[in-house]
Amino acid sequence: MRKMIVAGNWKMNTTLPEGQKLAEELTSLLSNYTGEKDIIIAPPFTHLHAIGNVIAKSPIHLSAQNCASEESGAYTGEVAPSMIASTGAQYVILGHSERREYFEESDEILLRKTQLTLKNKLKPIFCIGEQLTQRESEQHEATVKKQLEETVFKLSKSDFQQIILAYEPVWAIGTGKVATPEQAQEMHAFIRKLIRDKFDESTAENMSILYGGSCKPANAAELFGQQDVDGGLIGGASLKADDFYAIINA
Ligand code: G3P
Repeated sequence: MRKMIVAGNWKMNTTLPEGQKLAEELTSLLSNYTGEKDIIIAPPFTHLHAIGNVIAKSPIHLSAQNCASEESGAYTGEVAPSMIASTGAQYVILGHSERREYFEESDEILLRKTQLTLKNKLKPIFCIGEQLTQRESEQHEATVKKQLEETVFKLSKSDFQQIILAYEPVWAIGTGKVATPEQAQEMHAFIRKLIRDKFDESTAENMSILYGGSCKPANAAELFGQQDVDGGLIGGASLKADDFYAIINA
């Protein structure tokens, strides 16, 4: 049975005190949480250990937003998966469109990061999604298919089964232009079919596929109610405790 998951991608936001305050507010709101959803927050690297302590007794799990593609060594400024794991984090967001676009992360680099993340017993939250021009030219399915084939479809079945996928149409990220429930369901069902064809029925049925892109308290319930949408990867709304809590309870 696949898990329903709500993950908050804080991106490059909050100082450490602000992040600790947000984590404390969330921990308090979730003190009596009995829901079925897995809850994950992804603060900046600098906050991981301190926020890990804040959420330690809560149902919230910790994620990084990226990792290095090398184990260790002379890579100034990079953060290795082993270092992330040592903070108590259990997940790493990889392949986010902002990393692909602004930092030119290629499919090859993303596959290497994914393999290294798995080697360090961390779970990748692997992002895919098309640009507006690709959707407008009816290339959205071909784009997502290629992103999968050039990265996580190269993993062994057992490794692939460890990951979480996040479909994030780039044109919906930070724009307020959320995908319609029908658009989300269509793409999630397409992705699940690709997984079924590549691996098998069980792998496809048990894979959590999150939706990301302007998911808010007002639209979360309809999106999450779609058969192949297994929760959300939330950006802006994850920076407000009440909004993130409302999405978790959608
Ligand atoms: O990773 C999630 C993020 O890209 C979505 O951002 O602000 O549209 O919810 P937002």
